[in-house]
Amino acid sequence: MKIAVSGKGGTGKTFLAGSLAACFASDGHPVIAIDADPAPNLGLTLGLTSEEAAAIVPVAENEQLIRLKTGTEYSGVFRLTFTVDDIIARFAVPTPSGAHLLVMGTVRSPGSGCTCPAHSVVKALMRHLIVDRDDYVILDMDAGVEHLGRGTAERVDTMLVVSDANRKSLEVAGNICRMAKDAGIPAVGLVGNRIATSSHDRAVREYAAQNGIPVAGMIPFDQAVYDNAIDGSPVDPAASPAFREISRIAASLVSGAWQAGGPGG
Ligand SMILES: Nc1ncnc2c1ncn2[C@@H]1O[C@H](COP(=O)(O)OP(=O)(O)OP(=O)(O)O)[C@@H](O)[C@H]1O
Ligand SMILES: [Mg+2]
Repeated sequence: MKIAVSGKGGTGKTFLAGSLAACFASDGHPVIAIDADPAPNLGLTLGLTSEEAAAIVPVAENEQLIRLKTGTEYSGVFRLTFTVDDIIARFAVPTPSGAHLLVMGTVRSPGSGCTCPAHSVVKALMRHLIVDRDDYVILDMDAGVEHLGRGTAERVDTMLVVSDANRKSLEVAGNICRMAKDAGIPAVGLVGNRIATSSHDRAVREYAAQNGIPVAGMIPFDQAVYDNAIDGSPVDPAASPAFREISRIAASLVSGAWQAGGPGG
């Protein structure tokens, strides 16, 4: 199962990606959660302390690793073929959620013609994780699909695009959904988040219907989740309406019900 999560800044991508990773891990699946946001903070959602999260060196910024993989004795020349499976064993960090966390660091667009060594390592690693591995892979991205090159995007099972009821968030989400489809991702769904009123619910559903985007879920506004980000006060998943909806989304992704049955939520 390979799930990518995208959406406008601040809409709840990291919360959704981290909670899905925790759900799959608690069901006993091997999970690799990839933080592909240039400003990574998925580790906290997976239960690491700030100190533990800050100590992680992103793959793209690990100069020793990049040199080891791509270096040659000629300056300005680097190898394009190398193995990456050992990177996962060495650098994926276990977290209290049960998922392993891999922080990619700043990744430039494969479409931009960037062929720097760090980029080629991250691209190969992303491809390996999505195409070759059997783990559940959850990808926390920024607002775009450019981390997924040709040959990789097609192998993502589903991209979930998060939006609150804000019109701008919905429009960014709509653009990401179109880009994801163009990139070849087979299933793309909108997830409403921080839904506090029936008018929020209606705004998201109407936008989705008008733009032909299936709704994969509707996560309610959850005061406990909000407060947790302010003062670290614990969230009891069993008592959290947001977690309940994310568990439902996770189950529908596993069963294929959402992709087969169209709009859920
Ligand atoms: N359903 C919810 N109910 C209440 N608060 C929420 C909910 N979902 C997310 N939040 C809060 O909204 C804030 C933004 O969430 P999050 O960090 O997951 O967004 P993001 O899209 O990953 O942001 P960024 O673009 O900065 O990476 C956080 O403080 C989070 O706790
Ligand atoms: Mg985030």
